Amino acid sequence: MKFDTRVVRAGITPDPTTGSILPPIYETATYVLEEIGKDKGFDYTRSSNPTRQVLEQNLAAIEGGEYAICFASGMSAVDSAMKLLSAGDHVISSDDVYGGVSRHFNRVLARYGLTFSYVNSSEPEAVRKAIRPETKMLWVETPTNPLLKVTDLAAMADIAKQHGLYLGVDSTFATPVFLRPLEYGVDIVMHSTTKYLSGHNQIIGGAVITNRQDIYDEMKFIQKTIGAVPSPFDCWLTLLGLKTLHLRMQRHTVSAQRVAAYLEDHPKVSRVTYPGLASHPQHEIAKSQMSGFSGMISFELKGGIAAGKAVMNNVKLCDLAESLGAVETMITHPATMTHADVPAEEREARGLTDGLVRLSVGIEDVEDIVADLEQALDKA
Ligand SMILES: Cc1ncc(COP(=O)(O)O)c(C=O)c1O
Repeated sequence: MKFDTRVVRAGITPDPTTGSILPPIYETATYVLEEIGKDKGFDYTRSSNPTRQVLEQNLAAIEGGEYAICFASGMSAVDSAMKLLSAGDHVISSDDVYGGVSRHFNRVLARYGLTFSYVNSSEPEAVRKAIRPETKMLWVETPTNPLLKVTDLAAMADIAKQHGLYLGVDSTFATPVFLRPLEYGVDIVMHSTTKYLSGHNQIIGGAVITNRQDIYDEMKFIQKTIGAVPSPFDCWLTLLGLKTLHLRMQRHTVSAQRVAAYLEDHPKVSRVTYPGLASHPQHEIAKSQMSGFSGMISFELKGGIAAGKAVMNNVKLCDLAESLGAVETMITHPATMTHADVPAEEREARGLTDGLVRLSVGIEDVEDIVADLEQALDKA
């Protein structure tokens, strides 16, 4: 099946009992055995569930992977990937990761003996230099949240292979429509399915996709042992959202390109970051590695924080909200919202200034989005 067909169909067959075209929502905790040792493939929903299994098969097919494992959130997917490691192990992470991820690394996992170095993974040499004897994992976000830095995955896979490291990629911003990291030799692809994959602000969820049987076995064990699993209803809602992923992403990327060009030309805007702009520092890598640039933009105003806040407080169509990747256009202030837990000096060092505005371009008519930004910018 070609990609668009896989999105709609993979893993989904009509229900054998009723012919229902959508998979039933198996809201059950447990399954009745015919006799001791004789079940129908399911014994307890923390371990596996038929609705979740359909979602996992669909996600694996879309990413071009053998196995997918779903979690209750993107964060629990990250946490479970890190549980492949042991106390004393060292992780090299992209410096510009989602604030919840660095909070988890620094304030939870560090307590259990893992250590972390943050480097600009857009520079493979910087990654190479950060490797220590105890390094076990490279954790890359591409494009990053919120500065949209892009990492060359083939270069990362070379480094990981050479040094025997796991290579994990948070591909939430790119989605499998535009980037399939497994094709570059990545071991673990992670998504916050809360975002583009479900697409309608309807659930919190996460997933990990891999081609490696050893990683799958271990993560399946972690999933059933820790139990950070999504509800069957959330799996079903995610499946419903996924069916239009390819169509939504095409609109997100076309509209974001238009909005980015509009902002870049605006006299009050000092800097626009979007991987689809020729001015983006890794535009060439993005162009060669991704088939579209997705829907996320960040920008700064010449008037700094005050002007940025005026825009965010004056938008009418765009929602001031803490998420991204949904059909609605959402605007966010990373310094006080998504990345509030990153210490101020660290934010400044990363270029994540207090004046930065993040925009998740939705699938409304793009001229309405531009008109809304225009009236808000007038007030800045
Ligand atoms: C890039 C990225 N990774 C992971 C997460 C965490 O996902 P969740 O909110 O589903 O736990 C987010 C959330 O914003 C994110 O943007």
